[in-house]
Amino acid sequence: MKYRHAFHAGNFADVHKHVALLALLRALQRKDKGFFFLDTHAGRGRYALGGGEARASGEAQEGAVAVLAALRNRSEPAPELLDYATVIGAWRRDADARHDYPGSALIAAQVLRGQDRGVAVEVQPGEFEALRKALGRGARVSAEHGDGYQRLRALLPPSERRGLVLVDPPYEDTRGDFRSAAAAVHDALERFETGVIALWYPVKDARDTDRWLAELARRVARPMMAAELWVHPPDSRAGLNGSGFVVVNPPFQFADRCDAWQRELRRLLAHGDTGGSRIVSLVGESR
Ligand SMILES: C[S@@+](CC[C@H](N)C(=O)[O-])C[C@H]1O[C@@H](n2cnc3c(N)ncnc32)[C@H](O)[C@@H]1O
Repeated sequence: MKYRHAFHAGNFADVHKHVALLALLRALQRKDKGFFFLDTHAGRGRYALGGGEARASGEAQEGAVAVLAALRNRSEPAPELLDYATVIGAWRRDADARHDYPGSALIAAQVLRGQDRGVAVEVQPGEFEALRKALGRGARVSAEHGDGYQRLRALLPPSERRGLVLVDPPYEDTRGDFRSAAAAVHDALERFETGVIALWYPVKDARDTDRWLAELARRVARPMMAAELWVHPPDSRAGLNGSGFVVVNPPFQFADRCDAWQRELRRLLAHGDTGGSRIVSLVGESR
């Protein structure tokens, strides 16, 4: 596998995904009872935005760097965007890492409570070692080396009976990853029907992703939605035109809130005005 998330860390898709991740964790935290968080594709956890890969791609400058700077001057941002900026700021202070960016596992570790529990899985040995180090001892999220899809089957259902599963594959093998990610949703629901499942996907050609979403909806008998934010027209040849995530069993009012914050986020990104966003309500039909 050649994929290194360090080239993409903090890009517009990471921001979109991480605001959503935090909003989902916060929704679960409306209840005192603890929950389980599983990150099946965790990455290395900590990314130097001034480092070689990030500088080479320049993606973070147009994503997290632009958004965090814009949020500093905004008087009343959406609460979800404010929470994102506050959590990244707190992690940077705690980790003494003013110019670094936290991945999904570290963002979760930053906000999980004493009664919550997290597991983050990474398959590449070097990335896993970095993740383990970045999480450190005593973190509320523990790192596991292995295949996230296998670990998903082994770890669900969680003893807490409440939880969030984040599935965030690299899509290096685009078709294969779309297939495996959809299969992971089925595996998760078979074991943990009421769990919240968030699955990130790239929007390259909207016709392909729309077909995939429709097929997923046809096979999942649970409430489900998708949220998409794109920075180039969704059928342009730019490569990664947009960022999308499916949420199965979305928390109460999550879709409405998501519509509001992703519209605002779209305006804060440094991509000109070529993009847009949408919420797709997917009605699951059968299993
Ligand atoms: C998009 S990155 C993850 C980014 C991370 N979730 C975040 O938001 O900060 C995908 C990661 O999945 C890892 N990976 C690929 N296949 C995997 C598998 N089958 N199981 C676990 N990790 C895998 C890759 O090495 C890469 O680090």
